[in-house]
Amino acid sequence: MKTIIIQGSSRSKGNSSKIVELIKKGIQADVLDLKTKTIHPFTYDHAHMDDDFLPTMNLLLNYDLMVFVTPVYWYSMSGIMKNFFDRITDCLQIEKDIGRKLRGKNMAAISCGSESSQVEGFFIPFRESAGYLGMNYQGDLHTWIEDKHPSQMVINNLQTFIQQNLTIT
Ligand SMILES: Cc1cc2nc3c(=O)[nH]c(=O)nc-3n(C[C@H](O)[C@H](O)[C@H](O)COP(=O)(O)O)c2cc1C
Repeated sequence: MKTIIIQGSSRSKGNSSKIVELIKKGIQADVLDLKTKTIHPFTYDHAHMDDDFLPTMNLLLNYDLMVFVTPVYWYSMSGIMKNFFDRITDCLQIEKDIGRKLRGKNMAAISCGSESSQVEGFFIPFRESAGYLGMNYQGDLHTWIEDKHPSQMVINNLQTFIQQNLTIT
């Protein structure tokens, strides 16, 4: 299954990228770093159709599984990632063909916080968005980095998650 990891951190080489590197050890995947893209917030008049959003969406359509990796910012997904999800609205209202092509694809989500406790309901937007878009939701996992490196528990949890949720045939 052709897989892409979509990293939504405000820094390209931060904690979320350490989780991304761990995922890549367990599964063959390309990486899209949203921080390197110019994706404006959604506007009702679709004012930013010439930014990086549509090319990014067209790139993603080449993959069967999209793994969203976001840091926990204020108990929620990062603003960069939320902007990306908001902009999918453009694909439902204007570029409808792109929106339709998401149907049947697979989505999973991974958070990276600073502590082990998971925010209640954190993954609801991912799960519900997948359902709304007709994508198969393959599940989610909370990870955390307290010091500079992921703990053995995080590494083990990730390995299990990859085997059970991301290895789809
Ligand atoms: C703006 C901001 C808000 C944050 N809010 C939370 C939070 O609500 N809960 C939490 O556990 N950690 C929070 N953190 C810590 C980050 O989730 C944590 O350090 C994460 O691993 C950072 O990943 P990054 O290096 O990819 O940004 C916050 C960090 C930032 C910068």
